[in-house]
Amino acid sequence: MAKRENWGSKLGLILAMAGNAIGLGNFWRFPYQAAKNGGGAFMVPYIGALLLLGIPIIIIEWMQGRYGGKFGRGTVGHMIYLQSKEKIGAKSSAVLGSICGAIIIGVVTLVNSYYLHIIGWSLGYSVMSVTGGYMDKAVSTGQYFANYIQSPEKVIVFWVISVAFLGFALARGVQKGIEAWAKLLMPLLYVFGVLLIFKAVTLGSPVKPEWSSLKGLSYIWTPRWSELSFKTVLAACGQIFFTLSIGMGIVQNYASYLKEDDDLVTSGLCTVSLNEFAEVILGGTIVIPITYAFMGMEGLQAGVGLTFISLPNIFRAMGGGQLMGALWFFMFFFAGVTSAIAMYNYVVTILEEEMNISRKKASLGVFFLYMIVGIPVMLEPILTKTAELVYLTELDNWVGNYLLIVVGLIEVIVVGWFFGPERATEETNRGSYIKVPKWFYSVLVKYVTPILMITVLVGSTNDFIKDGYFKAVPSFVEKFPNLVPWVNGARIVLVIVLVTGFIITYKAIKRTHKKDFA
Ligand code: ALA
Repeated sequence: MAKRENWGSKLGLILAMAGNAIGLGNFWRFPYQAAKNGGGAFMVPYIGALLLLGIPIIIIEWMQGRYGGKFGRGTVGHMIYLQSKEKIGAKSSAVLGSICGAIIIGVVTLVNSYYLHIIGWSLGYSVMSVTGGYMDKAVSTGQYFANYIQSPEKVIVFWVISVAFLGFALARGVQKGIEAWAKLLMPLLYVFGVLLIFKAVTLGSPVKPEWSSLKGLSYIWTPRWSELSFKTVLAACGQIFFTLSIGMGIVQNYASYLKEDDDLVTSGLCTVSLNEFAEVILGGTIVIPITYAFMGMEGLQAGVGLTFISLPNIFRAMGGGQLMGALWFFMFFFAGVTSAIAMYNYVVTILEEEMNISRKKASLGVFFLYMIVGIPVMLEPILTKTAELVYLTELDNWVGNYLLIVVGLIEVIVVGWFFGPERATEETNRGSYIKVPKWFYSVLVKYVTPILMITVLVGSTNDFIKDGYFKAVPSFVEKFPNLVPWVNGARIVLVIVLVTGFIITYKAIKRTHKKDFA
């Protein structure tokens, strides 16, 4: 096996990890989740989930990743196995590791299969902002978006460019690829974000006196305890998982390139802060006030269409809209690529470590894999002449949302109960400038976080049942019978990937740790 690389510098590591976390979730998912769930009412559980779930699990994942790296492994199946085997034996640990491994293979192939398309659309929209493509008011922005995703030539060009860009970057390795690009793109993202914030808060009330951008801002910053509900809490927890890339395996994968004594806690907290700044300050201060100023509360209800439908509408109307649109979509693109590259690298790592394939060949191979798994996402709007994107939605519901919590729960149990608070504390604090106190693992990770997570999981399962996601025809597709095959197609693909992922991981664990099994 080729020698594993390490991060070249602390700054590079932190920017790469921040890039891993900061993604479409910060600029697209956060604003619409916050708006949909009552603004200030959402922010209360959001902050609670950050402190009680987000921070503990992020530290666990950094620790697990560095631990795996010590054994020359950058994938989660092995890490879970290594940290559980002494307590529960080789076989059970291998099964647990393989469940996590399978779900993570689901995330890095299937979440990325649509994530890469959204990145492609944002690159397309960046270019069209510069050329003025969507500025013509004769076509509504909703129709424009539908036309865009139904045009194979536009979709394919920007998608292939985006995936090829990632492939080239990854072929150059961790330091020259991931780290070098993070050092360039992350500062650019913050600069573009600050310019957009300036525009957002100085907009005033361009349409109606009662719609001011500052009122939009106060909507998310005024806590409304009375509107707090279980659903809001679940939405907040889901957002924390998605935005911090928890349960996706990609934090552990990046942490596996740390040296044995590299700091974990300070660096981990630093990247959480950079992510939260990008999410709450940049994501929250740009989209919500701008939308509120031009469209009032109604604009904020646009949900997933906020980025590609509502915002272009506003860029059409505002002074300097083309420039603002370009800044926004390029920022969105940078955020997306620095997260997608982490998912891409996970698949490359599997090929490198389990099949002894060189990084260059693996990067090329994974390019073709993403082309294949991305085909259904591309074909659905083209063949059905709709913009419902139900294939993507079904995958996102399961792998981008629900199953992340399952992985997170297994990680917490493995560290808190099998690896044990003592070893975990020692492993975490080695080389760390800020040390975690004893109660971090013995109380928070062992009891508080898993209890909360089980509650979230039960609640999410209940919600999924109520929303009909367990039915043959889930509620969101009831009105569109012609789209049902796409939902079922997504389910079949998901099952195939999960089963294959389980087998690959189980075999890899058994092969690597032959002695334990004997
Ligand atoms: N954490 C990444 C995002 O927010 C996956 O998009």
